[in-house]
Formats: sequence, C-alpha cells, structure tokens
Amino acid sequence: MDFLELAEKRRSVRAYREDDVPEEVLAKVLEGARRAPSACNRQPWRFVVVRDEARKRLLGTAYSREWFWKAPVVIAVCVLPAEGWVRPHDGKSYAWVDGAIAMDHLTLAAADMGLGTCWVGAFDPEVAAKVLNLPDGVEIVAMTPLGYPAEEAAPRPRTRRALAESVIRERWN
Ligand SMILES: Cc1cc2nc3c(=O)[nH]c(=O)nc-3n(C[C@H](O)[C@H](O)[C@H](O)COP(=O)(O)O)c2cc1C
Repeated sequence: MDFLELAEKRRSVRAYREDDVPEEVLAKVLEGARRAPSACNRQPWRFVVVRDEARKRLLGTAYSREWFWKAPVVIAVCVLPAEGWVRPHDGKSYAWVDGAIAMDHLTLAAADMGLGTCWVGAFDPEVAAKVLNLPDGVEIVAMTPLGYPAEEAAPRPRTRRALAESVIRERWN
C-alpha cells in the first residue's frame, strides 16, 4: 500500500468490533505517533491509553457516543504547552500543532494495520481531564477510539474539496 492508498484507506470509523487490540499492535500504532515531527523536535506530547472499562465509561461523560467509549481502546493525545516551541515573532505556540501531527500519524499507523480510529475533538475538555487525572499544564488535543472496524462501519463516500480549489499558486487573489 503506498501513501496515497493509505491516506485514502484511513477514514473516521464510528462502529467497532469487541475484539481486543493486542498490546504489540497498540505499541506499533503508538510508535507511528512517536515518529511524528515536531517544532524544534520538542515532542511536547503524551499519549494516554485507556483500556479499563470503567474509565472508558467515565470518558463517555465527556463525549457520549457509544462507539467512542465502547471501543476496546481510547487514546487521548495530550500536549504540555510548556514543553512546546513558541515562535518568537508572534508568540504562537506550536504545541497543539505538534499534537495534531502526532494524532495524524497515529490514525495513519492504525489504518495501516487494519485498525479504525476517529478523531474526536468535540469532547468536554474539563470533564475528560478530570477522568484522566491530568496534571495542570496538560491539555488534550484530541481523543480517538481504537479498534477493529465493525462491518456497519462501511465507508460512506467521502468528499474533499477539489485540488484546484485548495491550492493557491503564488498569490492569494
Ligand atoms: C480536528 C478534528 C476534530 C474532529 N472531531 C470529531 C468529533 O468530535 N466527532 C466525530 O464524530 N468526528 C470528528 N472528526 C472527524 C471528521 O468529521 C472527519 O475527519 C471528516 O468528516 C472527514 O471524514 P474522514 O475522517 O472519514 O475522512 C474530527 C476531525 C478532525 C480533523
């Protein structure tokens, strides 16, 4: 599978089988995330892995879709903004950008291994931080369920803006 095939294969999966994700498979998915680039190589991320049923159910109070918290694994991609690089010109922190890249690597690594993910951003961050017992200074960029896609997760055709609409040559005018 070449990269474009993988990018095409990855899609948001919102139905999972109950089958567990073996530790060694999970380790490879996390390795994919760990390989992500980051500004100044600061790697300000931490990946919180949740397998415990009770904890996952509690995460459901932060994002209530059953497909999310009932998946065999839920991963929260967190960042420590204090560890991230800040652009001196305007003070913009790149920590969330780094977290997003790691999350994207994670979803692609998972797809490469036949696993499903779904980027979840619409969770209640305060509730989720409490459930995960996050220390001060740690922020959740995204969460995802991780598991083997159920049959009903069959792909809907996904649309993307045409390349000509997305690419600007030379000048925005
Ligand atoms: C930053 C971000 C936040 C997202 N948040 C959610 C979410 O909270 N719930 C959800 O079901 N999907 C969420 N998605 C998934 C998008 O809806 C999905 O990626 C998009 O519709 C394209 O579909 P595809 O992932 O199957 O290609 C999110 C995606 C991104 C990139």
